[in-house]
Amino acid sequence: MFALCAISLSPHCCLSDLTSCSPRLPKEGETIHGHNFFIGFGGKGANQCVQAARLGAKTAMVAKVGNDSFGDSYIQNFKDNGVYTGKHDLETASSSQIRACGCLHAGENAIVIVAGANMMLNKEELQDALAAITSAKVLVCQLEISPQMSLRALRMAQENKVTTIFNPAPAIPDLDPDFYRLSDVFCCNESEAELLTGSSVNNVEEARCASRELLRRGCGAVIITLGAQGCVVLEAPESTSKHVPTTPVSAVDTTGAGDSFIGALAYYVAHYPAMRLEEVARRAGQVAAVSVQSMGAQSSYPHKRDLGAELF
Ligand SMILES: Nc1ncnc2c1ncn2[C@@H]1O[C@H](COP(=O)(O)OP(=O)(O)OP(=O)(O)O)[C@@H](O)[C@H]1O
Ligand SMILES: *[C@@H]1O[C@H](CO)[C@@H](O)[C@H](O)[C@H]1NC(C)=O
Ligand SMILES: *[C@@H]1O[C@H](CO)[C@@H](O)[C@H](O)[C@H]1NC(C)=O
Repeated sequence: MFALCAISLSPHCCLSDLTSCSPRLPKEGETIHGHNFFIGFGGKGANQCVQAARLGAKTAMVAKVGNDSFGDSYIQNFKDNGVYTGKHDLETASSSQIRACGCLHAGENAIVIVAGANMMLNKEELQDALAAITSAKVLVCQLEISPQMSLRALRMAQENKVTTIFNPAPAIPDLDPDFYRLSDVFCCNESEAELLTGSSVNNVEEARCASRELLRRGCGAVIITLGAQGCVVLEAPESTSKHVPTTPVSAVDTTGAGDSFIGALAYYVAHYPAMRLEEVARRAGQVAAVSVQSMGAQSSYPHKRDLGAELF
């Protein structure tokens, strides 16, 4: 019997980043020379799953990849990271998620997303994953699959007493109110909190306000991440949020820091169910702080062996 601790649900997972570095972006119709090109593995669900796995969680991915070389290499990437993929459904008619990124010297990204197999995970396929979901301790969901499928998965988890972590990303303004009620932990960043509450979220005070508003909508707890300022944590039925600062580090590349945080959050919630959420968030912040100190998303995620014993 495969004992699962954390599951990440997201067919968007299978996002291959094709990155070419050039001094500037090409203009329409123009061809310019780049000085570097690499293929990376990205996608929120996959990033979160890989980070949880690297900390030692048994993870499984419910996802869909294209029946092509990108899909194959993505499955291999999961295997290399110890993520269980089970039998995979390959979508014949579509291509994998391929994201072409042009990275500018200033560190800005221009991202083009070519939709592939991701939105095609259907009810029947999700039902096939029921056993995996119900035997997990934690289910992590994002909005990379259709909201209806995410809600269905969260319901499956809640009915089976599986702790749910919901990350409303990429954010949509008119989020179905059921998402709040189905989230044991609702974790988002500043811009997502802003979009969902309609109020600006640029500092700790504003994040505290936003966390109260989101909690009021029915979540068990709310975490709003604030980059170098750490995060704000508010748990029901409390009304006073806690600001959890992070150790300041000099960031090299913050890409995927939020996903590292959520993957680590899933790991700690699964492995230390009695730990206070504030402490869970503090440790997840320490893990994410390591991820901002080198380039890339998954390529920057630490393994358990890279981290101090005080985090375990
Ligand atoms: N400069 C930094 N120094 C220390 N920790 C950081 C820094 N940037 C991010 N972190 C850690 O990572 C967590 C998540 O970062 P952030 O709030 O920027 O997420 P995000 O906006 O979703 O990230 P991204 O979109 O860049 O992947 C923070 O709560 C913090 O713990
Ligand atoms: C994947 O594509 C190959 C052709 O490239 C085809 O032979 C194979 O049947 C496809 N697999 C599935 C599961 O559709
Ligand atoms: C929050 O996350 C989204 C991805 O969902 C990202 O586009 C956005 O830049 C992030 N916001 C901040 C303030 O980092």
